[in-house]
Order: sequence, then structure tokens, then C-alpha cells
Amino acid sequence: MNGMTQQEWVEEAWNQALAKTKRNSQRIGAAFPHASQGGKYVLEVPSWWTAGFWPGMLWQLYAGSGAGDGGLKAIAEDCEQQLDEVLDGYGKLDHDLGFMWLLTSVANYKLTGAEASRIRGLKAASHLAARFNLKGRYIRAWNPWHEGEDNSGVAIIDCSMNTSLLFWASAVSGDPRYRHVAEAHMDTVLEHFIRPDGSVYHIVNFDPETGEVLEKRGGQGYAPESAWSRGSAWALYGLALAYHHTGKQSYLDASKQVAHFFITRLPEDHVPHWDFRAPGAVGEIRDTSAGSCAASGLLLLASQVEASEAHVYRNAALSITESLYRNYGTWDDDGEEGLLLHGTSNYPENRNIDVPLIYGDFFYVEALARIRDAGPFYWE
Ligand code: GLY
Repeated sequence: MNGMTQQEWVEEAWNQALAKTKRNSQRIGAAFPHASQGGKYVLEVPSWWTAGFWPGMLWQLYAGSGAGDGGLKAIAEDCEQQLDEVLDGYGKLDHDLGFMWLLTSVANYKLTGAEASRIRGLKAASHLAARFNLKGRYIRAWNPWHEGEDNSGVAIIDCSMNTSLLFWASAVSGDPRYRHVAEAHMDTVLEHFIRPDGSVYHIVNFDPETGEVLEKRGGQGYAPESAWSRGSAWALYGLALAYHHTGKQSYLDASKQVAHFFITRLPEDHVPHWDFRAPGAVGEIRDTSAGSCAASGLLLLASQVEASEAHVYRNAALSITESLYRNYGTWDDDGEEGLLLHGTSNYPENRNIDVPLIYGDFFYVEALARIRDAGPFYWE
């Protein structure tokens, strides 16, 4: 495209993301952006599930740019320390411990060897493992959202990403129990979340006493039997990660199955709609975060299969990432902090529709880092 080689556009895209993030860091500092409204990221409390993505992006850019920018590192470390209030507070912890501590403490530990970060990562993993329901063999997703609610039977597809924290904890501690929990949960994903066509359910509700499946729900998708695109991205990436950590063929096969569904539903510009089965004008709304997350997952998947298959996943990832860069980026707009326009957080609840999202930005940077072969990657 535009006569540039792949290496040229990827370097240009990386430098644009780095420059814009440095600018943003002067206003945002050590805080927790989620969705951009009117050009500025709205800052959330540290306990919100997205708290890891800003520091995670800073670590990724820091590590991928010759570790030369201590300013980004210092902000990421400050964010990590602020999360102690959540980790030690216990009451606000749910299954998103992986999103939050893989991209802060595990990232820090991988890059610097900091002992305090290793301990934080292990504490977070212990809290996550403790959410395992033995009867249903699932990790409980959320705590009650309001007084009297019982959601102890709820598991969600997003947790496929969080299990990487458990695989990491077993690897660093030598204790296999974390991995056992992660595998049991991912086996449940295979059994109950993936449909025969490769699309996925967002939510499965189990009887927490017997483990019986009570209901499958659309959750953040359009309808129970629709196909929420970010859910597909969580599944294809999470299953590729589970394969990376275990070598279990069934995870790789399922990741490929979900990837085929995802790739074949992409519109002409390669960036997914928020739900692949939403009808009419509603179905035209994009979710760039699903695109960037899937792109990074597809690049991992491509690295796990024979060359004869790898090109399918790699080419799809490159097409998505290049389209995000060319058609959805904000490089010439200093009045917008988000890197990517047109993310959709939660359509059914009418929250953050068609706006930049911090996890969309994070996975976009991570996908570029994968194309540049500039890890480490904190899920692995
Ligand atoms: N529930 C996390 C997400 O919006 O993907």
C-alpha cells in the first residue's frame, strides 16, 4: 500500500504510536484511561478491569524502542504500585486479575526481574485460582454487581486471556496447581463456549453447586446466538496462548476454528463489526479493539503452525493491522488521545460505542510489536 514495504509502514506506524503515547503520557501520567470521549481519555478507578492496558502499552513501547525511554517505564511502575490498593483490598477483585497484573507486575518482572513484581503477580494468580469452581470446572467471572445478585455460576469467554496469569504462576513457582486450574477452565471453554461454526458464547451460567449448565447468554453481544466479535478475539487469542503454555492440540485446533470464523466474517476493510450477526445499521458499527486483539492473537497462532497454514493467519493479521493504521488511526489529530477510532465497548448497555478504547490501542501496539519481533509479550 502507498508504495511502502511492510517494514516501512510498520516502522512508521510504531513511531507514530510511540510519539502519540509520549504526548498522551504528559496529561494522563500514572492513571487508568479506558474510553476516549470528546478527544480525551476518561480516567477510571484502579479497580476497573482495564487498569492494566495503559501501563502495559507503556511497557511494550518502552521495551520495543530500545528500552531508552525511562519516562514511560516510571509511569508504568507508578500504575503498578497504585494497583496494590486493589490487590490488597480484595473486595474489588474479580477474574480480570490476568488483564490487570500480567500487563503490570508480570511485565515489570519479565523486563527487570523486580522481586516485588513477581510477588504481586503470584498473589494475583492465587486470587484468580481461588475463583475456580470445582463442580463446574470454571473460573467465576464477576462478583455481584448489585446487592442481592448471585452470579457465582457465571463464567465468560474473556477469561481465556486471564488464564495466562495462572500458566505464568506455575512456570515461575514450580507449583503445577495454577496450571491445573487454567487447563480445567480452558477445557470448559472448549466444551461449552465454542459453537460448531467457530463463533462463541460470551457468557455461560452454571449451577455453582452441581456444575450443570443452566443458560448460555449473548452478554455484550447482540443476542444469545449472535457473534460478539471481541468475544471471538478473546477466544482465538486465549486458546492460542493456552496451546503455547501446554502444547495441548485441542487448544490449537479450537483457536484455528475460531480464527477461521473471524477471518471469513471480516468486511472489505478487514476491521470487524462489533457483532458479526447484528442486523441492519446496528451491525455496521465497527469494533477496532476486536480487530487489534484478534490481529495480535493471529500473529501468535501463525507462529504455532506449519508455514503452509501460517500465511493464512499472518496475512489476515497484517491486513487488519495495516487497515487500522491507515483507516482508523488518529496520527494527524492532536485533539484526540486515542490511537484508534471506532471501538465499541458495550453496545447492549449503551456504553462507549464508536470511540477509542485503551485495550484497542494496547493490542494494536502489541500487534505491531509482534510484526517487528520486538517482545517480550506478557501473556506468554
Ligand atoms: N468484558 C470485557 C470486554 O469488554 O471485553
